[in-house]
Amino acid sequence: MATATSATEPTTGLADRFGRVATDLRVSLTDRCNLRCTYCMPPEGLPWLPGPSVLSDGEVGRLLRVAVELLGVTEIRFTGGEPLLRPGLVPIVAAAAALSPRPKLSLTTNGIGLERLAGPLVAAGLDRVNVSLDTLDPDRFAQLAHRRRLPDVLAGLRGAVAAGLAPVKLNAVLLRGINDGEAGDLLRYALAHGYQLRFIEQMPLDPQHGWDRAQMVTAAEILAMLEAEFALRPDPEHRGSAPAETWLVDGYADPAGRPAKVGVIGSVTRPFCGDCDRTRLTADGQVRNCLFARDESDLREAMRGGATDAELAERWRAAMRSKLPGHGIDDPTFLQPARPMSAIGG
Ligand code: 5AD
Ligand code: SF4
Repeated sequence: MATATSATEPTTGLADRFGRVATDLRVSLTDRCNLRCTYCMPPEGLPWLPGPSVLSDGEVGRLLRVAVELLGVTEIRFTGGEPLLRPGLVPIVAAAAALSPRPKLSLTTNGIGLERLAGPLVAAGLDRVNVSLDTLDPDRFAQLAHRRRLPDVLAGLRGAVAAGLAPVKLNAVLLRGINDGEAGDLLRYALAHGYQLRFIEQMPLDPQHGWDRAQMVTAAEILAMLEAEFALRPDPEHRGSAPAETWLVDGYADPAGRPAKVGVIGSVTRPFCGDCDRTRLTADGQVRNCLFARDESDLREAMRGGATDAELAERWRAAMRSKLPGHGIDDPTFLQPARPMSAIGG
């Protein structure tokens, strides 16, 4: 049961024992997806969350309000699974945009359906979008994601720009022997279209447990591949809590005329846990204090059991107080979280 909060307790944010304060909330709106990227889902899909356990649009809206108005969250990123599959996405974004102080609102998507939804999402208040794009080859896309949908993704990217979501960010995961020869091509494509590309090291989050440290394409390898084709300079801009280390690409400019950038997110070999400012909410209403956390805190049942906003906020704070200093992937005792990435939200 939720514990009562004393009326005199000061309102505080989501601080942990290591001095980090979470102001960036990742909300997974569904665990379902219309792709089956090999590093994320088996081809047959996964046992989806049962409908009644998934938060309603109103329940999501209430928890977003608690996060922003009682817990100091300033940025909300909607994820999945594939968040564009959530029927209530546009009204949820509109509800988030109506909060005070208005949080920054972004979306991580595979791009399928964005061609149609980018306009309504911008009208609802969406500020930014990250689209996953691991390959430019339609056959390799089908091999990697088990669906022939590359044209839909590319149309989604164009739709995002047309709706005013620039600068669009692209996320790419390189898999050895599959798309690891495409780093340069992906960057050329991103530069030509004014997209900001970031490569993400593959993390051990696949339910098939196929991740292998020795097989992973590392940040150092990605940089070496890019440097063979482009002149890169370290980005002088301060990184802050951003996971991507960025480089300026000599000779290229972004659509606003600034030097073009490329990012590398070395989640495994260059962890950024010490600067983490994230908290996560799953589609079934569980707070996670880390992508790799093994414990969750159930806000759904507390909410459905009649908890007040103050009680929900206190539960959320308590969940963050037990955040560990790091993900421990390199620790021999490391265990993958029980939930796969698609049910946590990237
Ligand atoms: N390792 C790294 N990135 C991943 N993503 C999904 N699963 C993994 C993984 N195991 C990426 C997706 C998407 C974002 C949400 O995270 O490609 O861009
Ligand atoms: Fe779907 Fe994203 Fe997982 Fe690919 S990585 S299967 S697009 S949730």
